[in-house]
Amino acid sequence: QTTPVILSGGAGTRLWPLSRSASPKQLLRLLGAETLIQSTARRAGPESGFAAPLIVAGEAHLAQIEAQLAEIGVSPRAIVLEPAGRNTAPAVALAALMLAEDELMLVMPSDHIINDVEAFRAAIARAQPLAADGWLVTFGITPDRPETGYGYIETAERVAEGVQRVARFVEKPPIETARAYLETGRFYWNAGIFLLRAGSFLAELRRHAPGIEAAARQSVANAAADGTTLRPDRAHFLASPSDSIDYAVMEKADRVAVVPVEMGWSDVGAFDTLLKWLPHDENGNATGGDVIALDTTNCLIRSEGPLVAAIGVSNLTIIATGDAILVVSNDRSQDVKRIVDALKIDG
Ligand code: GDD
Ligand code: MG
Repeated sequence: QTTPVILSGGAGTRLWPLSRSASPKQLLRLLGAETLIQSTARRAGPESGFAAPLIVAGEAHLAQIEAQLAEIGVSPRAIVLEPAGRNTAPAVALAALMLAEDELMLVMPSDHIINDVEAFRAAIARAQPLAADGWLVTFGITPDRPETGYGYIETAERVAEGVQRVARFVEKPPIETARAYLETGRFYWNAGIFLLRAGSFLAELRRHAPGIEAAARQSVANAAADGTTLRPDRAHFLASPSDSIDYAVMEKADRVAVVPVEMGWSDVGAFDTLLKWLPHDENGNATGGDVIALDTTNCLIRSEGPLVAAIGVSNLTIIATGDAILVVSNDRSQDVKRIVDALKIDG
């Protein structure tokens, strides 16, 4: 049985003012009735043959995560609370250290859209024998633009039905490189989802990032357990270098395979992605809450409080919450994080 490992870190600053440090994007109902972390847990739920999930998250979100999992009837095997964010390599290491060497872990970010859940599960089934054999398995999405926020996977020979060896894994290349990759037609985007045998992952981590492996191991060895909650030792964990699984392991390991999968996948990074995936009216608007929009096109307008009224505007995102209003041009949605940075500097 495969254990889902759900990573719930990251602040989601490009989705301010909806996403806040106390309730980041994965804990919000951005796309419908479920929060993103609920959709993630359900996607790899017990009724589709997965073991109870391990959640790796920050202390500040424990109560919300417990409540949201209970709401959908998921009992986690454990919730591992990181003393501080050290990026994904240490987070995945904590989870791997809680499993037996032979167990498979399905590492999933908690902030993705996957529309075709059947295709997702079929891809995992295809990856399982390879992962059990020690391959680090990634999932590949056909790119449609030279996106620089993703990892790129160059494929080599076929290793099994629907599985190819990874020739190269390049995390977040510069734009020229991304364009060149797109032209070759040999590259996939890394979906950020990994199927790993716990022992194989830890062995690769020890080889390529021994400081992370040692820090995670010592912090788990000295952890405090409280029911299903595990608090790894703070001092040991803080000694870990901060790095992503992509840079620390995937770019460097030898036996890396990719399962290409078309599953209606997207990383929910900024408001332009939300506008793309939410249901639209005939003018391309996605609205939510108390909103009136006349002669308006291609706008995302959402209110959690006051009535928001718009006339004759296009290509805007307007978000109103109890304490803030954001107005941003859709082609600048990546820059919303600059507002959060400015707010931090201003105190
Ligand atoms: N628990 C925990 N602790 N989770 C974390 C931490 C941490 O310190 N840092 C990040 N995460 C979570 C994020 O919340 C997200 O769900 C996931 O791990 C991936 O981290 P991101 O920071 O969002 O990574 P990225 O989007 O820049 O890049 C990764 O994902 C892309 C696809 O979305 C890489 O794997 C890329 O190669 C990939 O293309
Ligand atoms: Mg991401």
